[in-house]
Amino acid sequence: MRIAIIGAGCSGITAVKNLVEQGFTEVVCYEQSGRIGGNWVYNADTGHSSVMENTFMISSKKMSEFLDFPMPDDYPDYPSHKLVLQYFESYCTHFGIYPYIRFHSKVDKAILNPEGKWAVYSNSSEVPEIFDYLLVANGHHSVPRHYKIPGHFSGEYMHSHDFKNNKGFENKRVLVIGGGNSACDVAVECSRVAAKTVISMRRPHYIVPKFFMGKPTDTFNDTMRYLPDVVAEKLRKLSLKIQVGNYEDYGLKNPDFPVTYDHPTVNSELLYLLRHGRVKAAVGIREAEGKTVVFEDGTADEFDVIVAATGYKIATPFFDPDFLDYSEAESIELYLRMFHPDYPSLIFIGLVQPQGAIWPLSDIQSRLAAKYIKGEWKLPENLRSLAKKEAEDIRRSFLPEKRHTIEVHYILYLEKLAKLAGYRLK
Ligand SMILES: Cc1cc2nc3c(=O)[nH]c(=O)nc-3n(C[C@H](O)[C@H](O)[C@H](O)COP(=O)(O)OP(=O)(O)OC[C@H]3O[C@@H](n4cnc5c(N)ncnc54)[C@H](O)[C@@H]3O)c2cc1C
Ligand SMILES: NC(=O)c1ccc[n+]([C@@H]2O[C@H](COP(=O)([O-])OP(=O)(O)OC[C@H]3O[C@@H](n4cnc5c(N)ncnc54)[C@H](OP(=O)(O)O)[C@@H]3O)[C@@H](O)[C@H]2O)c1
Repeated sequence: MRIAIIGAGCSGITAVKNLVEQGFTEVVCYEQSGRIGGNWVYNADTGHSSVMENTFMISSKKMSEFLDFPMPDDYPDYPSHKLVLQYFESYCTHFGIYPYIRFHSKVDKAILNPEGKWAVYSNSSEVPEIFDYLLVANGHHSVPRHYKIPGHFSGEYMHSHDFKNNKGFENKRVLVIGGGNSACDVAVECSRVAAKTVISMRRPHYIVPKFFMGKPTDTFNDTMRYLPDVVAEKLRKLSLKIQVGNYEDYGLKNPDFPVTYDHPTVNSELLYLLRHGRVKAAVGIREAEGKTVVFEDGTADEFDVIVAATGYKIATPFFDPDFLDYSEAESIELYLRMFHPDYPSLIFIGLVQPQGAIWPLSDIQSRLAAKYIKGEWKLPENLRSLAKKEAEDIRRSFLPEKRHTIEVHYILYLEKLAKLAGYRLK
């Protein structure tokens, strides 16, 4: 059995590990860059998104470990990107993953041929390699979703994809667009050197502090996993009321939806800086003229730079768009966020946006994928209707934004897959 994997980020490396552990030896993991780690390689020379110079995780150490490989005891609650990358590298060394990775090998095309095999073309070669299964682990945070500024803005524009640190922002008037984790990190970094930093959100977001009662916030949420939803939601709201109070006191809008309907934005520093006037909050943008930006509430201000932290598109450029293209999808019908109803030999690893870290979920997905390829677990016969229902459930459970088409509730998803894969969670 020959298995190809695209990408050696945290999703690809755990796919290799779990396939090899299940006895598969003909595994080729194509990696376009010279290192494992994907987004976590700072300043990646591949054109792929990298973390920022000052990125710290937003999920805590204990909630962000591969299932059988704890982070070192001396790691802090929220490790820096350097420590996260070191952790991935020691995972690869420990489980003997490196020999299966083909570095500097970019997959240009992956074609499912009439015999049901995958023809994988890499590095402009005209001769494909043939595989029985294809695992796609190329990540979904590398192609920026740009913001089209209404009107005409004569200052500088960039996407957070290209923001590495605050060098060059000294004494500038900076407007950051978005309410996700990139927007908050960029606003915090810029505020250290800029003349003025404003963060514009087109809708309210819960900005959640990193600690609650001295513990990382996600571990507090985890303690509520056995409570009924209504009770857990009340406790979440109460905890935010106690820690944050009224979002309007920060210049933000109060969200009017349940906390778990949104991808979490976790940032204590932004809240602190808003209350110290180092960052100001604004509503969505109505239009720009010259360097003046008019906001939806009619207020106006001048800016030298706009940083759009408006997220990413799901990209699978190695597929013909007629075969598969989720870049503008409003809904993605994949069973368990992994299996396409029409292509049983195609498996996605890491195509999830969890309310927690991605790699423990990529780990459990890979365990299930290995059992599936081995024939120890079968796809259900009503795969298509299950995939459709799953997409509908996502639409009901989260705000209807493109960024939520692959959102999952971390614990529920992990437990569901663990049960199917026959893995006992600790
Ligand atoms: C600024 C930033 C901060 C983040 N912080 C967090 C965080 O704190 N916690 C968290 O859980 N997540 C965070 N994320 C999300 C991040 O995407 C995931 O943590 C994780 O990196 C996803 O891993 P992955 O392996 O699925 O994808 P990636 O990390 O994107 O890795 C994909 C790999 O595939 C390779 N590849 C892509 N296309 C090809 C091809 N055609 N051929 C060969 N190789 C290819 C790439 O080079 C890359 O190495 C952050 C993302 C960004 C952008
Ligand atoms: N420190 C960290 O650990 C860290 C740092 C950065 C990123 N990350 C992770 O990386 C991933 C990507 O994060 P991200 O923040 O780059 O992207 P994101 O989570 O997709 O957030 C994009 C933000 O931009 C807004 N937006 C999108 N289009 C817009 C438009 N046309 N006009 C105005 N606002 C618009 C979105 O609002 P809507 O919801 O209304 O669309 C959202 O607030 C996430 O998983 C995130 O958790 C982590």
